[in-house]
Amino acid sequence: MTVQEVPYQELSLELLLEADPSREKLLSYLPRSLCFAIKVEQHTVGACAVLETSPQVYELMCIAVDPQRQAQGIGTQLLEYVVAHVRGLGAQRLELGTGTFGYQLAFYQRAGFRAVAVDRDYFLRTYHEPIFEDGIQLKDMLRLEVSYRE
Ligand SMILES: CC(C)(COP(=O)(O)OP(=O)(O)OC[C@H]1O[C@@H](n2cnc3c(N)ncnc32)[C@H](O)[C@@H]1OP(=O)(O)O)[C@@H](O)C(=O)NCCC(=O)NCCS
Repeated sequence: MTVQEVPYQELSLELLLEADPSREKLLSYLPRSLCFAIKVEQHTVGACAVLETSPQVYELMCIAVDPQRQAQGIGTQLLEYVVAHVRGLGAQRLELGTGTFGYQLAFYQRAGFRAVAVDRDYFLRTYHEPIFEDGIQLKDMLRLEVSYRE
């Protein structure tokens, strides 16, 4: 399986909604994002979007793997590719925000992300509907980053 950079229209919204439950937000940043996919026989099994939010600063906006294919290494392959690709763009850092402090946190830490801040009440402020994961309502956003200058 290889990672490909693809036009945003090729990414499955249904898949990305696994990572970002707001269709409205997804549609607002996808057209401006660098999009990457892993496909198996034309079917996208992993996808992510990266946005340059300010000069030399990028943000991983969403990453998702087909639920049938999770925990098989696809997300790690995609994430490691993106971390290296953004480094190759001459970036200072790659950031992300997550409300999920479960297995996803270890997934990001293994790829070199470190915690830098907590944005308290982010999910309460910015999403109209409450979001639950594993029965826990998401409230605070943990900010993580890979710094390419350390
Ligand atoms: C997060 C995600 C992209 C990781 O992709 P993946 O292909 O499943 O990840 P990998 O197979 O590379 O596994 C990374 C680790 O996460 C664990 N993991 C993956 N999916 C899991 C699941 N559903 N439940 C528990 N652990 C899981 C793996 O076991 C692995 O840990 P290990 O190395 O200790 O075994 C994917 O699980 C996903 O799409 N989740 C739903 C959307 C989401 O949460 N996106 C991130 C928003 S913050």
